Amino acid sequence: MNRVATPNDFSSFWMPFTANRDFAKDPRLITAANGMYYTSHDGRQVMDATAGLWCVNAGHNDPLIVEAVQRQIATLDYAPHFNFATPQAFELAAQLANLFPTGLDHVFFTNSGSESVDTALKIALHYHRVRGDVARTRLIGRERGYHGTGFGGISVGGIVNNRKHFGTMLTGVDHMRHTHDLARNAFSRGCPEHGAELADDLIRIAELHDPSTIAAVIVEPMAGSTGVLMPPVGYLKRLREICDRYGILLIFDEVITAYGRLGTASAAEYFNVKPDIITTAKGLTNGVIPMGAVIVDETIYKSAMEHATVPIELFHGYTYSAHPMAVAAALATLKSYRQNDMFARVATLSPLWEEAVHSLKGLPNVIDLRNLGLVAGIELSPRPGAPGARGAEAMKLAWEKGLMIRVTGDIIALSPPFIITEDEIHTLFGKLADILRNLA
Ligand SMILES: Cc1ncc(COP(=O)(O)O)c(C=O)c1O
Repeated sequence: MNRVATPNDFSSFWMPFTANRDFAKDPRLITAANGMYYTSHDGRQVMDATAGLWCVNAGHNDPLIVEAVQRQIATLDYAPHFNFATPQAFELAAQLANLFPTGLDHVFFTNSGSESVDTALKIALHYHRVRGDVARTRLIGRERGYHGTGFGGISVGGIVNNRKHFGTMLTGVDHMRHTHDLARNAFSRGCPEHGAELADDLIRIAELHDPSTIAAVIVEPMAGSTGVLMPPVGYLKRLREICDRYGILLIFDEVITAYGRLGTASAAEYFNVKPDIITTAKGLTNGVIPMGAVIVDETIYKSAMEHATVPIELFHGYTYSAHPMAVAAALATLKSYRQNDMFARVATLSPLWEEAVHSLKGLPNVIDLRNLGLVAGIELSPRPGAPGARGAEAMKLAWEKGLMIRVTGDIIALSPPFIITEDEIHTLFGKLADILRNLA
């Protein structure tokens, strides 16, 4: 076994979204990865059932991406993109414009999902202002929404623990109701039947504040981090109609759904609903180099160009926007998706995946099973007085049994790399069933 020394001090690195004190007692350390598997510090192979954090869609250490990054670092390590640019940045933007629905043709590069969200919110506010619609400043999110951890993202986000410690955040934000309805929709296959009418919450909010004050609404077409919530059938179309009626921009936060997760390039394509802005990150570079991209409709872009009163049309950007390493990784990632027809592979695997997910029905504490594309949500009943404890234990037990799973509270989220084989799907759910049987 290939053992690697463990650190002596677990306190200097303040770990993100982690129970730091608990982690130090029994650390889960990773030393290598390849394809579908991580190597743990004690030399075990651990199946990655979550594509890292929903990002390693093409699997780990894809040779095409590794080589592209190696070549790039030896050629051009960094170049600024304020007033200068690399040709490859334009090439990547053009490829992304092709990948997303027609009209969504302009790309602003960021370094993460959180930055993509902040960028999208700012572009929405900017759009209305430059057109002289200056009262449109309100931003609408949704309860249980996750839009990263910047102040913009937590303001429109709807996860209480991510918000309650951080003051008043952005003002002028309101939230629609979430769509999670176990009573009516538990054990749905694909999108749940009930709940399209919840989109009408936007009408209530628009009428409360007056539609002329609302700039944009942001939703995850399929919500991941709140515990995998599929949109009710018809919900997103209804939201689009209401936005059109009131002149509100619709932003889809596709940080986890873009780049193939549902079997199409975007959830917008999957649901056939075209938003005005799409935020992306993660699968754009297969997680190899941090990068995000905000895909913007041509009306918004043209308006910014036409109405600008100063040479710089948008006072926004990042030192690392279109970083050459990230661009190289993204171009190679898109090539890998194309060459291996990976989005189609997700669509082909998803019926088998659905059967495997729903085979867990009847196991102890399983109160809902949800699936779409190559995504699963497994909701466990919380222990009385200890919400989240059962989920946390499932994650630890899974790691011991050679599976990396993700939990939010008592909900297990699965989102494997697209290279997962049919046999590996059976192995994954077989192990998971054992874990659930052994979980108190
Ligand atoms: C929908 C959504 N938006 C934004 C983010 C934030 O992305 P990042 O962690 O790269 O800032 C995430 C991360 O999971 C996400 O799922």
